[in-house]
Amino acid sequence: MTMQFNDETFRGDYTYRNSPEAIRRFPFPFDRDSYAYSVNIEQHPGGPKGSPFEHMFDVDEHYVAEMRDREITLAEDPLRCQSLPHMELAGWDLLELIMVSKARDYPDLFSLTRAGNDWHWINRPMGIDKRFIFLDAATLPYGPMEYITRQTQGDFALLHERDGNLWMDAGMVTSQADWSLDFDVGMNFFEWHAPVPKARQMGVFDKALKFLLAVGQGQHYRRLNWTMTVNPRLDTSPENYHKWGPEKRTITPENVGHKQFLRVELQTFFRLPRSHALAFPIRCYLASLDDLVTQPKWARRLHRVLRDIDPDLADYKGFAVNRDVIVNHLSQFDDGAPTSPGI
Ligand code: HEM
Repeated sequence: MTMQFNDETFRGDYTYRNSPEAIRRFPFPFDRDSYAYSVNIEQHPGGPKGSPFEHMFDVDEHYVAEMRDREITLAEDPLRCQSLPHMELAGWDLLELIMVSKARDYPDLFSLTRAGNDWHWINRPMGIDKRFIFLDAATLPYGPMEYITRQTQGDFALLHERDGNLWMDAGMVTSQADWSLDFDVGMNFFEWHAPVPKARQMGVFDKALKFLLAVGQGQHYRRLNWTMTVNPRLDTSPENYHKWGPEKRTITPENVGHKQFLRVELQTFFRLPRSHALAFPIRCYLASLDDLVTQPKWARRLHRVLRDIDPDLADYKGFAVNRDVIVNHLSQFDDGAPTSPGI
C-alpha cells in the first residue's frame, strides 16, 4: 500500500493532524474575499491530480481513523444509520457505485471481482476480504448501505424522488455539522433545509432542487459548503451537543490557532441506476487556523470572509461566540494586499 494512514483521534485527546501534503490539498472553499449562499454546483469528478476532486470518492491519510470514529459513534447510537424499507435497492446501488469506483481509482487499496452476482471485495487498509451475493442482504453483516458506508469517508444521505421533491429516506450520518438524521429522516428538501437562514428567500433552494431533479444517470456533480468547529471533532451532532457545545467556550487568543478548525464539506450528487434515488455524500475535511495560515493567500482571504460575514450566517454556523477572537487572530496574517478571484 502506498498511502500512509494516520493513527489519530477525533474526540478525547484529539490527536488528529494534517500532514503538509494534506494541508496542500485541503479544499479551501472561498474563491473571493466575501461569502454568501449560492447554488455553486459543478461537474464531479475533475480537478487537479492529487486534489480531493480527482476521484469520485476521495481516500486520504485520515481514512482508517475516520472509520474507527464512525464505529464508536454507531456503537453509542445506532440511529445514526437508518434506511426506510423501500430504500434497500438504493443501498445496493450505492454499494456498487462505491466499490466499482474505489477499486478502479485506488487499485492498490481496494479490489472488486465480479462473476454474475458473486462478488469478492477486498479492502486492504481495513483488513476486509469478503465474498457475498449482490442483492442478497443475508450475505452481508449489515444492510448494503451500512456495509459500504462503514468503509467510506463522509456522511451519506440517500434521497427518494417522488411528487417532484426529494425525501431523505436513508442515511449514514456520524460527522455532521449540527443536524440530525434521526430528526430529518422522512423529510423533504424544503423541510430539512428549513433552519437555514436567508437561502430560501434568495431562491437558492428552489433553484437547487430543480437542478437536482434533473440530474440523470451517469451525471455527477459537487459543491462545497463550510462551517467552523472547535477541536477536530467529526461528530458535531445535536444528539451530542452536550459534549462539544461547551468546548466552544474554551477558545482563547492563545489557543485559537490550534483549536479552531475550518470544516469544509465536499458534497457530491450521483443519480443511482436501479432505484433512481439520488446519493448525496457529504465528505468532511478539517484544517486548523495554524494549518491554513501556512498558505498566505488563504490566511488573508479567510480573515476577510469571517470579518465581513453576515451575522445571521455566523450565528447559524455556530461560531458567532468566537468570531472576534478568530478575526483578531487572522488579522495579523492580512497585509491588505489585493487577492485575485479563484482559489
Ligand atoms: C444545509 C442536506 C443539497 C444548500 C443543509 C442541512 C442539511 C442539508 C441536513 C442542515 C440543515 C439544518 O440546519 O438542520 C442536504 C441534502 C442535499 C442538499 C441531503 C441533497 C439533496 C443542497 C444543495 C444546496 C444546499 C444542492 C445548494 C444551494 C444548503 C445550505 C445550507 C444547507 C446553503 C446551510 C449550510 C451552512 O450554512 O452551513 N443541507 N442539502 N443543499 N444546505 Fe443542503
